Amino acid sequence: MRKLNKKKSKKNNIKGILPLFALLFCTFSFGQKEKKPKDLSEIVKTWAQPDVYPDHIVLSAAEDPTTAIGINWRTSPTYKTGYVEIAVSNGTPYFSLNSQRIEATKITYDSSKDQKNGFISSFYGITIKELKPNTLYAYRVGNDAFKSEWFQFKTAGDSKKEPYSFIYVGDAQNYILELWSRLIRTAFKTMPEAKFIIHAGDLVNYAHSETEWNDWFDAGGFIHSEIPTIAVPGNHEYQRLNKKSPEDEKVLSVQWQPQFSFPENGPKKLKETCYFIDYPDLKVIALNSNLEIRMQGKWLKKVLAENDKKWTVVTYHHPAFSASREEGNEEIIKFWKPLFEEYNVDLALQGHDHAYARGAVYNEKLKSEFLKGPVYVVSVSGGKMYPLSSEGWEGFGAVKNKKGQYLQLFQVITIDDNQLFYKSYTASGQLFDSFRLEKKEGITQYFK
Ligand SMILES: [Fe+2]
Repeated sequence: MRKLNKKKSKKNNIKGILPLFALLFCTFSFGQKEKKPKDLSEIVKTWAQPDVYPDHIVLSAAEDPTTAIGINWRTSPTYKTGYVEIAVSNGTPYFSLNSQRIEATKITYDSSKDQKNGFISSFYGITIKELKPNTLYAYRVGNDAFKSEWFQFKTAGDSKKEPYSFIYVGDAQNYILELWSRLIRTAFKTMPEAKFIIHAGDLVNYAHSETEWNDWFDAGGFIHSEIPTIAVPGNHEYQRLNKKSPEDEKVLSVQWQPQFSFPENGPKKLKETCYFIDYPDLKVIALNSNLEIRMQGKWLKKVLAENDKKWTVVTYHHPAFSASREEGNEEIIKFWKPLFEEYNVDLALQGHDHAYARGAVYNEKLKSEFLKGPVYVVSVSGGKMYPLSSEGWEGFGAVKNKKGQYLQLFQVITIDDNQLFYKSYTASGQLFDSFRLEKKEGITQYFK
């Protein structure tokens, strides 16, 4: 089925003559011995291998999304160079006459030395700058021999008054092509104008598996190529390279840095896994909850102290208060939570628990609808589910306002000046949870 789908997308043009082939095949094979089908792992491997045609084409949000964008893609290691062609888009097919060609950097990596299903792949990446705000661009990637189709994306507007939305998903991780595909496609259909998609870690199950990354790219299809990604690594993006590596020597997915172009404005040691993005009146801070929690706390304090945005969203993988485990994350509670409270962070978007929980720590000095720190959310988007635990929040002074289990969920968050609207939907498109935040005279009110 997986192979069939891939073939279908690449070879649509032969669809019309398929019945004729089928008839000939039946005629000649009648009475002959049936061929042994290929092993499924062999099919999956063949299907995920890079080609001369660019694939895995993905946009990454840049530090200033009004004027910049990251673009990455993958090919087989056949060609020396790769470039992006980009132009302001319009309704005529001649928009490309004014396109600009920009060469990308290339990293060739042989993941077959680490993984059974590995390949030699060339990963191309570039951050394109000096774009115009609030402008629709068309781009394609490739080289002189093979180019992708033209994709479109819109840069962020520079107005603080225009409402805008973004999507947030928890772990895709398991049954990515089988089940995450319907989730991410429903999310796109619900908010096609989303400015970016936040992935709160564990995008795949095996950090270095290019077949799993291929599932993630195929499940999202052109959504990855048209809506910028903001992603943080989960524990499943840190694994030992191969069976010969020491058990405790876990390293970041070998594909992470070559296949994304996240801002490099975080601590050097955590390149492209800890960074921030500045919308006109929103700061998104991506944290790496796998390591260096204390050191990131120091960096976070500086970033939050200099933050002049009205709204602040943090995202990281391991939740401060667990939805499915009877625990809190002691290090995050100790080093990050006090900063979230001191600097009025509005939302903490998390993953890891394969269940849903949404709640907050209340400010005892004010009425209960006033927050002490962010609204904390744990959510899951892929197919692996854990049952809810009754503990994990209350023991740490937090209150759950909504909980859920055995549901694939995505969230749409809309910011409109002083108000933030949050909606969580199931993979079948039904509203599951919602709340609103409103800022008045420096205080955030929580309408739960
Ligand atoms: Fe996880």
